[in-house]
Amino acid sequence: MIVGIDGPSGTGKSSTSKAVAAKLGLRYLDTGAQYRAITWWMLHNGIDLTDPAAIAAAAGRPEIVSGTDPAAPAITVDGQDVSAPIRGQEVTSAVSAVSAVPEVRARITALQREIARQAQGGIVVEGRDIGTTVLPDADAKIFLTASEEARAARRSGEQGGRDAQSLAATRQALARRDAADSGRKTSPLAKAGDAIEVDTTELTLEQVIECVVTLIEEKRSR
Ligand code: DC
Repeated sequence: MIVGIDGPSGTGKSSTSKAVAAKLGLRYLDTGAQYRAITWWMLHNGIDLTDPAAIAAAAGRPEIVSGTDPAAPAITVDGQDVSAPIRGQEVTSAVSAVSAVPEVRARITALQREIARQAQGGIVVEGRDIGTTVLPDADAKIFLTASEEARAARRSGEQGGRDAQSLAATRQALARRDAADSGRKTSPLAKAGDAIEVDTTELTLEQVIECVVTLIEEKRSR
């Protein structure tokens, strides 16, 4: 059972994907973490992130290993656990530029397909282009959406800033990253034609999880 869950930031994609994988006894892959990990490595190795040719030339250098346990999905770069630092502001600001470079996408996509192929019993893979590019033959494809306002409120809450100023800043940063991820040439954020869209704006996380589990079980029983 291969499940692809795509959508923009702040739709509850990671929390949903992890919980769904755990409930259904599937492995779990966070592809955003892989793009964050390669970005972290570039930042720490002095790669000029304003130069796509420099990013492309370095794309094959770091060794990225993704854990697929939904309860503890650690990620290492050259043997170092980077699960925490890849969530920092520095990486978040730079990741769209790095992930837009075709050589980076080719490298990470190959890694993702290999992990999905080897996953015993099936896997939930979450990202932006899983249903369209990485695993077009996935057994179930889900596309999560939510209003920009709801997504910014969730992200701001996660970061501990609930005042109007931090909400506005989060909303702006989120809109900028979504525009970059949707507007890039190579496999942009997009809903696959055969993906099922779930609008999470008015739903709690538990409701989203339940809805996605039901959709997957329907596909499984066919
Ligand atoms: O899901 P996230 O916020 O951790 O993802 C970080 C960035 O990685 C996001 O801005 C776009 C990029 N990404 C991508 O281009 N393709 C994917 N399949 C997953 C993430």
